[in-house]
Amino acid sequence: MADAIYVTQFGTSDQAFQRKEIQLDSTPEGYVTISVDTFGLNYADVMSRTGLYNDAPPLPFVPGYEVVGHIKEIGKSVTDFKEGDRVLAFTRFGGYAQEVQADVRAIQKLPDSISDEVGVALATQYSTAYYMAIRAGNIQKGEKVLVHAAAGGVGTALVQLAKWKECEIIGTAGSTEKLAYLKELGCHHPINYRTSDYEQEVIKILGEKQLDVAFNPIGGDTFKKDQRLLNSGARHFIFGVSTWSGKKGTLLDKIKLAWDFGLLHPLGFLMKSQGLIGVNMLRIADNKPQIIGETLQACIDLYTQRIIRPHVGGVYPIAELNKAHDLLENRQTTGKVVVKW
Ligand SMILES: NC(=O)c1ccc[n+]([C@@H]2O[C@H](COP(=O)([O-])OP(=O)(O)OC[C@H]3O[C@@H](n4cnc5c(N)ncnc54)[C@H](OP(=O)(O)O)[C@@H]3O)[C@@H](O)[C@H]2O)c1
Repeated sequence: MADAIYVTQFGTSDQAFQRKEIQLDSTPEGYVTISVDTFGLNYADVMSRTGLYNDAPPLPFVPGYEVVGHIKEIGKSVTDFKEGDRVLAFTRFGGYAQEVQADVRAIQKLPDSISDEVGVALATQYSTAYYMAIRAGNIQKGEKVLVHAAAGGVGTALVQLAKWKECEIIGTAGSTEKLAYLKELGCHHPINYRTSDYEQEVIKILGEKQLDVAFNPIGGDTFKKDQRLLNSGARHFIFGVSTWSGKKGTLLDKIKLAWDFGLLHPLGFLMKSQGLIGVNMLRIADNKPQIIGETLQACIDLYTQRIIRPHVGGVYPIAELNKAHDLLENRQTTGKVVVKW
């Protein structure tokens, strides 16, 4: 018998979560069933819990993108894994459970030298950062890089990857404590976006139109601001819409959001020699799961080589899941938040 945490209605963590038994079918071909020890939280879980995440399954559903655990059963045609293997898995929902099934193309064996907590950090957040910065963005030495929400999970990963590549890093965050954390992380120019206009601050630091790469999970008018800061040859990543948090999702909200993003034309990108890259790791997991496997392995290797060091900002027992969710929702976390069964 295994339990899972379901979202049974949208709302606060107290209203939304319910612990119930989960019954999985026998392991499908190409999949493994994992007995879960630890799972990670992601900001997208907050969005799906509050009903603002389009890709979430219909209610009731089990959220969660990543787990560390041991293989309980292997499906047909699985040859690279065996029962008992300790693995890190990208789960594409279903992760808040004692048992989950995962496509073998999106899992990797986890060396004993990597703790569960670090393992789950390497999954969605570091893999997303790696996919953007290294695979799609190909960031280069000396490039000037802007990381929004830089003290968070993906943000921490992006700062460390940009540091590895010897970029000049500007990071935004929303509190004095987070700015201190960013300094320690090696971010050259931490900016508190609550006390100053980050666009003006970036211009003061770099000059007009000097930014090479922007990593933006916020959306809304920050997208237009980033766009104004970019140089020729720049890459602009949009990978989230945190500004949508706390909204009711009405038609008016949607029109306002679209308006804040502004209008763009492909010819503008041609003329300025710039790129706009949307990133949704769920789509990658659906259509190119082998890329998830590759990015997971790349992150495991970079950790083993001591190039990246996930910051685990909190480890909670399952009984404190709601508290962990509330902290993440209220912007009170740094790095990775982890839950253990
Ligand atoms: N597209 C993808 O495949 C993909 C994959 C992973 C993550 N993401 C996105 O990347 C972002 C970061 O994810 P994460 O899991 O690493 O979370 P996180 O950064 O650890 O936590 C979210 C942080 O976002 C900042 N933030 C800015 N505006 C916010 C707002 N309006 N409401 C709430 N928080 C706001 C807060 O930091 P400050 O206090 O510094 O503002 C907050 O701590 C999220 O938008 C997430 O959806 C996308």
